[in-house]
Amino acid sequence: MLPQKHAYIETFGCQMNERDSEIMAQLLAADHYAATNDMQAADLIVINTCSIRDKAEQKAYSLLGRLRIMKRANPALIIAVTGCVAQQNGAGLLKRMPFVDLIIGPQNIYRLPELLDQQTVRLSSSTRSRRCQIATTLSPAFRIPPFLPTITKPSFKRFITIMQGCNNFCTYCVVPYTRGREISRSAADILKEINHLVDNGIKEVTLIGQNVNSYGRDDSSSTGHSFPELLRAVNAIKGLERIRFTTSHPKDLSLDLIGCFAELKKLCTHFHLPVQSGSNRILKRMNRKYSITSYLDKVTMLRKINPEITLTTDIIVGFPGETDADFEETMELIDTVRFDGGFSFKYSDRPSAVSAGFPDKVPEEIKDFRLNRLQTRQNEITQEQNQQVVGSVLPVMIEGLSKTVAGQWHGRTSGNIIVNFISSNHLLPGQIVNIEIAEAGRNSLRGEHKLD
Ligand code: 5AD
Ligand code: SF4
Repeated sequence: MLPQKHAYIETFGCQMNERDSEIMAQLLAADHYAATNDMQAADLIVINTCSIRDKAEQKAYSLLGRLRIMKRANPALIIAVTGCVAQQNGAGLLKRMPFVDLIIGPQNIYRLPELLDQQTVRLSSSTRSRRCQIATTLSPAFRIPPFLPTITKPSFKRFITIMQGCNNFCTYCVVPYTRGREISRSAADILKEINHLVDNGIKEVTLIGQNVNSYGRDDSSSTGHSFPELLRAVNAIKGLERIRFTTSHPKDLSLDLIGCFAELKKLCTHFHLPVQSGSNRILKRMNRKYSITSYLDKVTMLRKINPEITLTTDIIVGFPGETDADFEETMELIDTVRFDGGFSFKYSDRPSAVSAGFPDKVPEEIKDFRLNRLQTRQNEITQEQNQQVVGSVLPVMIEGLSKTVAGQWHGRTSGNIIVNFISSNHLLPGQIVNIEIAEAGRNSLRGEHKLD
């Protein structure tokens, strides 16, 4: 039997990266690398990176700076960089961090064991030829392979990758360059994976991709399903309780998908619909391909079909050329829509993105000021929106027991809001219980367990 080795994985960024890290952990376990939370005990360290904003990229580089010292002390340690920084910077990353052993882009993670075995042979050979391997091919012919997850830790919810890449080329965004063109995964593989998860106790799945609304529309795809058709098929899986999805592009939000929120009982009443800006002029410069009027129409349709839907969004402040007047339109928009929650970011130049070359960059202090104003107002709106459910009884899926407050459980509403409540009952993660909401905070609700 081979001696047990240990792998430490650090994940930055979005749910796609989280899922990719789970996939790598599973591949590594089959390759005799047990997972460890202790970096010092690792024979292999994988840094799964994000490059959506400069800050995210710098986090990866700063961790790599620390690993340089570890590698010096232990030359047998293997260091792999995966994810979007690996894809984007490839050879440049190696130049800056010459001690890295493997550089693997998002389409190549399934090759990790094979690349690792080759590297292990190199490092243990008498010549110790240390050559980094770079696997960053990005091909439209790529297919996400069939992959059945192992369930090692008790869990009740999982992410399922249904597509990856993006064809939209928003001018600020690096994703089309790091994850390539849209590639939808076979519906048969997705359904098989979800059935397998449900057979192993999973109650909630989140279907993930950069632009899930356009699932099945890419030329290369032979899924035979549109996104709403896929949702219907997932909804029919016995034993599954809840379905979520993210992320969606407003221009691809179809009437058929809106209808799913009335039709599909397992589909959670939460929609994350990034608007990015409240100014049509800025949306044009961002190449978003919708207007504020059409965005608002879709919001109205969603709320009409299911008034319980909670809406969240992403907003960028300080996009090149954004004037005070443009920003005021964003402020107006959040008051018009009254989002239940929002993620907002200062615009960050990405080297491969088109807007990096735009003139009229907004000074940092103006971006700070705008972000602060936007977040302050959105926080107030979120608090007010949460206040509206006080007094109602909501089904909450249990997530777990508090580590700090005795007898306090936490779970999530269908609208994706965290609820804390005290109960002496023995509850199970994944179980749905009715909670009467007594109090609303900005980040969570507090309630009482209604015995059914
Ligand atoms: N600068 C700032 N924010 C960005 N996002 C994407 N690219 C950039 C960038 N260059 C934000 C968008 C997107 C979210 C995931 O990250 O709002 O929806
Ligand atoms: Fe980036 Fe736009 Fe694609 Fe989203 S839709 S991943 S913001 S290019």
